[in-house]
Amino acid sequence: MLKNLILGCLTFCLLAISLYAQQSPPPIAILGALNDEVAWLRGQLQDTSSITFTGRTFLTGNLEGRPVIIAVTGVGKVNAAMTMALLADHFTPSAVIFSGVAGGLNPDLLPGDIVIASRTFQHDLGEATADSVLNWGVRDPLTRQEMPIFLPADSLLLALAQRASSEAGFEKVPTSVGLREPKVITGLIATGDLFFSSTPKKEELRFRHSPDAVEMEGAAVAQVCYELGIPCLDIRALSDRADENAMQDFEKFFQIAARNANRIVLDMIIQ
Ligand code: ADE
Repeated sequence: MLKNLILGCLTFCLLAISLYAQQSPPPIAILGALNDEVAWLRGQLQDTSSITFTGRTFLTGNLEGRPVIIAVTGVGKVNAAMTMALLADHFTPSAVIFSGVAGGLNPDLLPGDIVIASRTFQHDLGEATADSVLNWGVRDPLTRQEMPIFLPADSLLLALAQRASSEAGFEKVPTSVGLREPKVITGLIATGDLFFSSTPKKEELRFRHSPDAVEMEGAAVAQVCYELGIPCLDIRALSDRADENAMQDFEKFFQIAARNANRIVLDMIIQ
């Protein structure tokens, strides 16, 4: 009798847990460094509510019926890692997608073009020698294993983003000779706590490992995700070419670049 009662309770609990799990799959988190890097997606969010932890506001809601969390990390690696750690602790996301802007390093790319990162690395983590920087992989405090210098994107998210980018309707980018369809590549993104606005400095960075773009948060988020086993992807549209015009170009192309990166994310989510 008691055995049957316990079995009945267990079955009921398992059913309730599986029903609950079906009703609320874990959310996908979308991060941007600046408010306007996620503004377009925020505008599409339904059933929103927000909660703030340690000064970081996390906006929850649905995008086309899928549960998501949108958060602004602030600029730089420490802000990004802190936000990502808080996010992981409070929400257990099933995946993290960073959607934002970057400076272009690949000479074939123009402002407005998009780099989906197959790998990210911290260009300012390592040994500064007389004529270069030798990048390091650092130890994972959880496993004591050395982490790779180049943190790989989650292969499923990468494939989803590549497919979405061939289907997403992008806003065309203004140029001196008219509107241009943005080009999308899969490539290497360098992350560090510096805004690049110098041709010699950008060439120095490009010379090491040939990154396609540079930004200030992606690899920091990727490292936290790597440690915690959370699938992660960095998508960046170029606001500038990291050269002497970078600041002016940033002002000019930031909004359209941010929206086009957001469009890939929306397409990935509704696929
Ligand atoms: N994000 C956008 N443009 C950038 C640049 N030129 N350097 C670093 N991060 C950036």
